[in-house]
Amino acid sequence: MPVTPLDDHHWAVITPASTYVLGVEIDPRTGEAAPRQTYWGPRLTPEAARQVTTVPRRHVSSFSTPGEIEELLPVDGGTRWGSPSLQVAFGHARSLELRFAGARVHDEGGGTERLDLVLADAHHPFEVVLSVRAHPGTDVIERWTTVRAGAEAAITRLDSGNWFIPDAAAYRYSGVFGAWAEETQLQRGPLPVGELTFTSRQGITGHMSNPWVMIDEGAATEEHGEVWGVALAWSGSWRVTSTHRPEGGACVSAGFGHDGLRWTLSPGEELVTPVTLGLYSSGGFGAASRAWHEYARAHVLPTPAEDRPVLYNSWEATTFAVTEEHQLELAKTAASIGVELFVIDDGWFGARDDDTTSLGDWFPHRGRFPEGLRRMFDGIRDLGLRAGLWVEPEGLSKESELYRAHPDWALHMEHRRRDEKRRQLVLNFARDDVRAWAFGWLDRLVTELGLDYLKWDMNRPFTQAGWPERGATQDRVWIEHTRGVYRVMAELRERHPGLRIESCAGGGGRTDFGILRHTDEVWPSDNTDARDRQTVHHGFSQLYPAGVMSAWVTDVPNATTRRTISLRYRFHVAMSGVLGIGGDLSEWTSAELEEAADLIAQYKRVRATVQRGRQYRLAGVPGQERSAVQYALGDEVVVLVYNPIGNAGRGPRRLRLTGLDAEALYELAADGSRWYGATLMASGLRPAAWEPIGDDHRSEMVVLRKL
Ligand code: DGJ
Repeated sequence: MPVTPLDDHHWAVITPASTYVLGVEIDPRTGEAAPRQTYWGPRLTPEAARQVTTVPRRHVSSFSTPGEIEELLPVDGGTRWGSPSLQVAFGHARSLELRFAGARVHDEGGGTERLDLVLADAHHPFEVVLSVRAHPGTDVIERWTTVRAGAEAAITRLDSGNWFIPDAAAYRYSGVFGAWAEETQLQRGPLPVGELTFTSRQGITGHMSNPWVMIDEGAATEEHGEVWGVALAWSGSWRVTSTHRPEGGACVSAGFGHDGLRWTLSPGEELVTPVTLGLYSSGGFGAASRAWHEYARAHVLPTPAEDRPVLYNSWEATTFAVTEEHQLELAKTAASIGVELFVIDDGWFGARDDDTTSLGDWFPHRGRFPEGLRRMFDGIRDLGLRAGLWVEPEGLSKESELYRAHPDWALHMEHRRRDEKRRQLVLNFARDDVRAWAFGWLDRLVTELGLDYLKWDMNRPFTQAGWPERGATQDRVWIEHTRGVYRVMAELRERHPGLRIESCAGGGGRTDFGILRHTDEVWPSDNTDARDRQTVHHGFSQLYPAGVMSAWVTDVPNATTRRTISLRYRFHVAMSGVLGIGGDLSEWTSAELEEAADLIAQYKRVRATVQRGRQYRLAGVPGQERSAVQYALGDEVVVLVYNPIGNAGRGPRRLRLTGLDAEALYELAADGSRWYGATLMASGLRPAAWEPIGDDHRSEMVVLRKL
C-alpha cells in the first residue's frame, strides 16, 4: 500500500527507497487547518513514520510563523509571509482561512493510490483539494491541487504544491539555465537565504530555465548524498520558487501561470493544476537522474518500450529550399547508410521561402510542389523509409492567407500592438475553432501523406497575449493555450495510433514532463556542435532520459559555432541519445558515408541500451575534458568515451565503470577479454581515446556483456 494511513490525520507515502509523511494539523485556538509535510527522506516503516509525526516543531520568533514552509500549500492568509502557493481574492478580501473537510484514499488500480485532502474556507464557499499520488515501483511522488468556487473567486496564484526540504547543514541547488542554441546548462551552487525563482513568463516552457530544481545537503556527488528534486509537468509559463529561511529550513513551491495574471472562477467552476513531482534519493545526482528517467518511462512517455528510429532531418542541409528532387536525393543516400525515418523540415508549404511568411497556410508550396507532396512521400516510402514532416501549428505569419481571413485568431490585446518575433504571431489554441482547424489540417496531412512522424515546432514566446472577446477572463489563454496544444496532440495520437511526435520550440524551448506525455522525442537544441551538445546533453540528462533526446550528426564547420570536429566524435555524441543525421549528405564523401553506415549499424545494435538503459554520467566535464557516459540494460553495458583535447598530458587514463555486478564477469566486445565487475569498477578500463598523445576529438564506444 503506497499510501498508508498512520492515524486520522496523518499518512505516509512509502516508495521503494523513500518515505513522505504528511498530515493535517488543526490550530486548537482558531480551528485553522494546515496540511503539512512532517517527513521526506529515507524509507521508514509505518511505525517509524508514525513516530516522526510526534517530533516537536522548532521554536521561532513572532516575526515568523512556525511550520509555514512545511505546508503542502502555504496560502496567502493568516500569519504567513512567505511566497504564497495559493492566493485568492473574494471581492476585496484577499485571504484564506481553511478548515479540514475530510480525506480519502482512492485505489486507482495497478497498485497506484491517491490521497485527497479536502479543505474549505471558513467563510467563503471555496474548496481546496490537495491530491497526492503514489505509483508502485517509483520514488517519484505526484501532487496537484484542485480549487472549486461556490461564489466568484479571483485566483492570482495557484501552485501545484509546496515541498519542504528537511533541515540540512547546508543546502545547494541544481538547475539548468540557457538560451537559444545553449539550452540546459547545469548550474549548481549554495541555495541563498531568501527566495530563488526559476520561471518562464513566455507561455512556453522556455530556453532560459527548465521547470525543476534539485536541492541537496550541500555535498552530494554524482554517486553519493541526499538529493530532493521537484519538477513541474507543464509546458506553458511556470514558476518554481525555492525558499531558504534565515532560521533554517527550505521549501520549493512549483506551479503554472505567472504573477500578475488572474483566473476568475464563477460559482460552480473549478481549476485543476498540472502535476508537480517530488523525488528523494540518497544515491546522489546520478541515482536521482536514474529515478527520474525510470519514472518517465513507466508513467509519462506514450511509447517508452519502442526503439526510436534513426532519423534524417533536412533542416541544416536545405533550410527553406525544400524541393522534391533534392529531398529524394537526400533520402536515397540516407536510406543507403541505414537511416530509418526521413523528416522534411520547414519550407514545404504556403509561399514559405524564408521565415517572413506562410505560417498558417498549410498547403503544399505552390511554386515548388504544384502537384502536391504525395509523390515525394511515396518516393521516400519506396526507399523503405518511414516519413515525417515539420509543422508549426501554433505559428501564424501576418503575411499569410490565414491571418488575412482570421486576424482575431492570433493571441492579441485590444488597443495594443501585435509585435512579431521571428516575423510571426501565435495562434490562440484556447479557441475551439482554432483547435478544430488545426486538428483538421493535421489529420488530413497525416492521413493523405501517410505520415509516421510530426516534428511539432513553436518558434516564438507569447507577448501581448490576450483574447479580447473573453473580456475579464482573457488571462486564461496563458493556461488554456497549453491545454489546447495537449488536446490536439492527444486527439491526433488517438486518431493515428502509429503517429509519433517530436516536441521542438526553436530548439529545446518545450522540454518538460507535461509535453512528454504527448510526444515521443524532443529536440534539445538548434546547436548541433558536438562539444556544445555534450554540455546540453549533460543538463538534459539530469531529468530526462536519453531515449527522448534527439541528436543529429551535422556538417562541419558547424553552422552555429564554425567548429570542425571529427565525424566519429560527432557520431558518438549523437549516439548518446536518439541518433539522427542532419548534414547535407549530398556533400559527404564516399569514405564519410561508409563510416556513417558503420556507426549507424553499431548504434542500432546498442540503441535499446542507450535509449532505455540506466544511465551513469561517469567522469569529467562533458565537452571540455575527458568524459564518459555509461548505459546498462539487462546484460549489456555501453560506454561512450570522449576526449575533446587530444594531447593533454593531464587528465585520467583509466575509466572506472559503475553500477556493475561486482562478482560477475564481463566480456569486452572489442577483444573478448573478460573482467570482473569489481575490477572494472575499482580499477577500470584504459580507453584508447584517453591516451594522451593523439588528435583532438577522439572518442570510442565500449560495449561489454555480462556473462
Ligand atoms: C526551429 C527548429 O529548432 C529547427 O530545427 C528548425 O525546425 C527550424 N525551427 C525551422 O524553422
